[in-house]
Amino acid sequence: MKIISVVGARPNFMKIAPFCQALKAYPDVQHILVHTGQHYDVRMSDSFFIDLGIPAPDVHLNIGSGTHAEQVGRTMIEFEKVVKSEKPDWIVVVGDVNATCACSIVAKKEHVKLAHIEAGLRSGDIDMPEEVNRLVTDRLADLLLTPDRISNANLKAEGVDDSRICFVGNIMIDTLEAQREKAASRSVAELVKRELLDSNKTFPKLPDNGFAVMTMHRPSNVDQIETLGPLIEFLIGEVAKDMPLLWPIHPRAKKQLELFGLWKQVCEKIILLNPLGYHDMLRLNMGAKIMLTDSGGLQEECCVLGTPCLTLRWNTERPITLREHGGASILVGNNVQKIRQGYQETLSSKRMPQRPEFWDGHAAERIAEAILAHSMC
Ligand code: UD1
Repeated sequence: MKIISVVGARPNFMKIAPFCQALKAYPDVQHILVHTGQHYDVRMSDSFFIDLGIPAPDVHLNIGSGTHAEQVGRTMIEFEKVVKSEKPDWIVVVGDVNATCACSIVAKKEHVKLAHIEAGLRSGDIDMPEEVNRLVTDRLADLLLTPDRISNANLKAEGVDDSRICFVGNIMIDTLEAQREKAASRSVAELVKRELLDSNKTFPKLPDNGFAVMTMHRPSNVDQIETLGPLIEFLIGEVAKDMPLLWPIHPRAKKQLELFGLWKQVCEKIILLNPLGYHDMLRLNMGAKIMLTDSGGLQEECCVLGTPCLTLRWNTERPITLREHGGASILVGNNVQKIRQGYQETLSSKRMPQRPEFWDGHAAERIAEAILAHSMC
């Protein structure tokens, strides 16, 4: 049997690593890894392949940045050539980035069976590009591999037949469990010094915990000055006054801060870091007193590590990570008053690790089994 699996952007890499590993138990499976190249900076891509032991991609499509239509269109054109020449039995896509959606469309137009890892997540917010990608991918996939039972319910509510749905758990947590010890052995002070965006910046030596970590890159938070301005004012004026605030910054957020003239004050008050490798980010999360983020993956990692998390969004496709479901996150949107209230409540919260069903480090094995079993149907 021949399987092509696809990665494109940073949040895909930690999801594909355990799957590549799990397939090693099936010597009859020929596995081809395709990287679309949506993310291309060393720190956004290559470093994850090295850190997580992901084999080098067999095919690189070098798509790069662009508008959504440009990225999806270019990916489809290039991926179609690969599928036509390789003729795989299955195409496996992960997550919800543009690469996921583009390659899913190609798979079905080429009549190849499609499996989606992380199926069934729904934010209900069609203005999010990721929600569009999820809806398209799940509509097309033959096998919907879900991370939690809420996702099963979402799919059933959309009329998906049970035979296409398989609850396997969260594959990102496989990576977290495999890498936890290595991450824990790192010193926060050392990694921060190594990854400072401005290597000339000086600040008091950081403790191994008792700092805040933030990440923010979504268009809904960084594309409008009316939203980004007050957020930055709060982060600088309140959080960074209470404790050191670390921000491994995404290239897109940096660009927007520069565009809006906010860059200088951010550099002065926030400890800006390069986009971090997997272990460094995990180490910061392990030590953070509080996480402020608009990333879905971090919300899940905070849930398992128990890091109190303020989710800078009005909705989430990952409700299982919220406090009402036993998780560590609260939704605070991007309104400063609401964020301040959540922040003050969270300051006194303790670390409360949670482990939703099947977030046990073995999702990839269940996924490989499910794909092989489905092939017999
Ligand atoms: C993408 C995903 C998002 C995910 C995020 C994680 C989609 C629709 N969005 O958003 O779900 O949370 O990745 O990072 O697929 N850039 C670089 N170097 C890179 C990659 C990007 O400088 O290696 C810059 C470019 O200016 C680019 C911008 O970042 O235009 C945005 O990159 P893009 O891949 O379009 O989307 P992300 O915001 O990264």
